[in-house]
Amino acid sequence: MMCLRASPPALALRMCLGLGLFVLLCLGIGQALEKKVVKSKVGEKVSLPCCHEIPRSESLHKYRVYWQKNITDVVLAYSEGIMISQHERYQNRTEMDPWNLTLWISPVEILDNGSYQCVVQRNSVLVCSESVILFVTADFSKPNITAEVSADSCELTEMVITCSSHGGFPKPKISGALNNMSVEWNASWVSESSFSPYNVTGKLVLNVTKDVNMTCSVEYSGFATSASLLLKKTNNCVVPPVPPPYNVITASIIIVITFILAVTLAARYLPRHVCSRCCKRQDSVEEGVKEYTKAPMTAETSSV
Ligand SMILES: *[C@@H]1O[C@H](CO)[C@@H](O)[C@H](O)[C@H]1NC(C)=O
Ligand SMILES: *[C@@H]1O[C@H](CO)[C@@H](O)[C@H](O)[C@H]1NC(C)=O
Ligand SMILES: *[C@@H]1O[C@H](CO)[C@@H](O)[C@H](O)[C@H]1NC(C)=O
Ligand SMILES: *[C@@H]1O[C@H](CO)[C@@H](O)[C@H](O)[C@H]1NC(C)=O
Ligand SMILES: *[C@@H]1O[C@H](CO)[C@@H](O)[C@H](O)[C@H]1NC(C)=O
Ligand SMILES: *[C@@H]1O[C@H](CO)[C@@H](O)[C@H](O)[C@H]1NC(C)=O
Ligand SMILES: *[C@@H]1O[C@H](CO)[C@@H](O)[C@H](O)[C@H]1NC(C)=O
Ligand SMILES: *[C@@H]1O[C@H](CO)[C@@H](O)[C@H](O)[C@H]1NC(C)=O
Ligand SMILES: *[C@@H]1O[C@H](CO)[C@@H](O)[C@H](O)[C@H]1NC(C)=O
Ligand SMILES: *[C@@H]1O[C@H](CO)[C@@H](O)[C@H](O)[C@H]1NC(C)=O
Repeated sequence: MMCLRASPPALALRMCLGLGLFVLLCLGIGQALEKKVVKSKVGEKVSLPCCHEIPRSESLHKYRVYWQKNITDVVLAYSEGIMISQHERYQNRTEMDPWNLTLWISPVEILDNGSYQCVVQRNSVLVCSESVILFVTADFSKPNITAEVSADSCELTEMVITCSSHGGFPKPKISGALNNMSVEWNASWVSESSFSPYNVTGKLVLNVTKDVNMTCSVEYSGFATSASLLLKKTNNCVVPPVPPPYNVITASIIIVITFILAVTLAARYLPRHVCSRCCKRQDSVEEGVKEYTKAPMTAETSSV
């Protein structure tokens, strides 16, 4: 069944190399189900392992080796020890180890992303074939978070939050968190093609009622980069928010001072009035009368 589906690539190979690799491809596809995965970043050097190591007693001369991409393209092919085919896009960027048949690609490009197959034949007999998936990634810049106040009141500050990151691959996910609560960005992506770096921007309108920590994360192919920003609740209310304890203390001090003043004044004048009244009744004490008749007079003059 698989052989039927595999026939177009087989034809492509026949055209390329003039070989009947029909059976060979069937096996190749069969083994592609178990997948080796290699990740690489743009610009790096990557090695894609093959499935056979040539014993030291032999050499590449007895072998045919095909490195193909996505079944249809021949990246590199060796026969009798010499390179018989190479894809133009891979020229000067690839090398094959002559013993373990590892394919080296340097520098890696976004377009190199995909599934590769290594097929090894010895004296026209299939030795092995294996697939390796190459996931190409490019790092996104650290997210840039900006907050713009769009409305402000005593209760809340409305902010437009923007988070952007650029130059990465593949298409990323963008996620957000407010303190610890996850929030949804209104995301948009820009890229020249599906095999070009992406720019991503997330937007969000928030009502901030207290200082909160905003985090923005950009995730791509198992990698992630994030940044956070402390969103401050701006407050330009007319009445400055004086902490209650301060008010209480001020009020207490005023009350205490008033009380002390009242007591002091009372201590000075009140006893004389009381005494003058009681002394009037106690006529027997003459000195007291003389003494205290002056006091109300001075008090009256001072009050007038
Ligand atoms: C193949 O050989 C090269 C050096 O000769 C080595 O760096 C690489 O790890 C080997 N790869 C495998 C899969 O054995
Ligand atoms: C790989 O091949 C499939 C068909 O076999 C095709 O649809 C797809 O576009 C190819 N991908 C690349 C990256 O060439
Ligand atoms: C590969 O390198 C050779 C010699 O340095 C050069 O002539 C050729 O144009 C290069 N090929 C590509 C596709 O860059
Ligand atoms: C890279 O290649 C793999 C394997 O073919 C594929 O699953 C993945 O979608 C590709 N990535 C991109 C961004 O095209
Ligand atoms: C972040 O974005 C703002 C607004 O787009 C821009 O003015 C600023 O320069 C950026 N900062 C960085 C570090 O890229
Ligand atoms: C935030 O969440 C993490 C785990 O999701 C937890 O360990 C941490 O204590 C939380 N922090 C706060 C301030 O809630
Ligand atoms: C997301 O942004 C687009 C364009 O800026 C806008 O049309 C859409 O209504 C926004 N969606 C949400 C849920 O805010
Ligand atoms: C992505 O952002 C970078 C830096 O801000 C800019 O130079 C580039 O043109 C943007 N790419 C696209 C496809 O908009
Ligand atoms: C923020 O608060 C204002 C005023 O209460 C309201 O009109 C607006 O819909 C709120 N926005 C969000 C995103 O909750
Ligand atoms: C905000 O939260 C992130 C992740 O939870 C943490 O790493 C960062 O230190 C926090 N920043 C501030 C200013 O609290």
